[in-house]
Amino acid sequence: MKRMLSGIKPSGQLTLGNYIGALKEFVKYQEDYDMIVFIANLHCLTVYQDPEELRTNLRDTIALYLACGLDPKRSTIFMQSDVMEHAQLGFILSCNTYLGELNRMTQYKDKIAKGESALTAGFYSYPTLMASDILMYDPDFVPVGEDQKQHVELTRDIAERFNNKYGETFKVPAPLIPKIGARIMSLSDPTKKMSKSEESNKGCIYLLDDPKVASKKIMSAVTDMVNQINYDPENQPGVSNLLTILSTLSGRSIENLVNEFEGQGYGTLKKAVANEVSLLLGDLQVKYKEILASGIIDDVLKEGKEKAGRLAGVKLKEVQKRIGADL
Ligand code: TYM
Repeated sequence: MKRMLSGIKPSGQLTLGNYIGALKEFVKYQEDYDMIVFIANLHCLTVYQDPEELRTNLRDTIALYLACGLDPKRSTIFMQSDVMEHAQLGFILSCNTYLGELNRMTQYKDKIAKGESALTAGFYSYPTLMASDILMYDPDFVPVGEDQKQHVELTRDIAERFNNKYGETFKVPAPLIPKIGARIMSLSDPTKKMSKSEESNKGCIYLLDDPKVASKKIMSAVTDMVNQINYDPENQPGVSNLLTILSTLSGRSIENLVNEFEGQGYGTLKKAVANEVSLLLGDLQVKYKEILASGIIDDVLKEGKEKAGRLAGVKLKEVQKRIGADL
């Protein structure tokens, strides 16, 4: 069975973008792949997190993984910091990564362009920890949204470089990006990605938003003056984003939706999106509450830590042997 691996940072609450671009895909793939999904709780430390809030976000993230349908019997679900090998392999891989490569990472360049001065060393080198998360488990594919593609490509380069230097050690994984929904845009500025770190909450739907609040955000989504429902991300990014959300959640093709909404106003499209999103959130939140009340989270993490830890232990030993760090 082929293997897949992916992770999500628990910095803040999970968004509709995380769901469509990543989580929904993980659930789909767990049917046919050996799926490893973790919570990237070391990654979110690249910017300060209030410890109490982080703890809450961690629990919420795992509960939402399960509420979305990730099944601990089929998938290995664990917390990054529970498997210490990630940090050690991360350091070894950082010694096989060039500064020039990290300088080219879009997220780093964006922060520099914005003039942010208090960037941490962890933020700068985090793509090497991500490479460690991935290469540790030899996955065939890494399902991610569009914004993480560059990191997976760097991971491939690091794996190839290491294999060339030390002999075949890591499988070189391929990113797996959904055809539709790989980049859900902000509702208030559809030229920007929907993101947890948005300044205002208006453009971002959180999976734990009250469905009424989410509907309001959708009804006030920024559109355009064309007044025609077309799928044209370049010229009509707002409308195209709404069509994308509706298509991914309803399972209907964009073409089919464009035909259905032909000649109708943006309000009708927004109502249909709000309806679909409210159904999703309502359903998820019922399950989320049941999962929190059931107390199964600790058991899921314990089992995931054991399973992932076993694999990671073997891999790190192999790497140590390759580089001459064993005796
Ligand atoms: P993170 O936590 O920012 O995002 C988690 C996943 O959600 C996707 N995503 C989106 N997809 C579509 N539209 C959006 N607006 C949107 N926003 C986020 C992301 O592409 C991602 O797939 N570095 C990673 C976490 C990570 C990881 C890994 C992922 C750490 N180690 C190893 C895969 C493999 C991150 O910050 O994702």
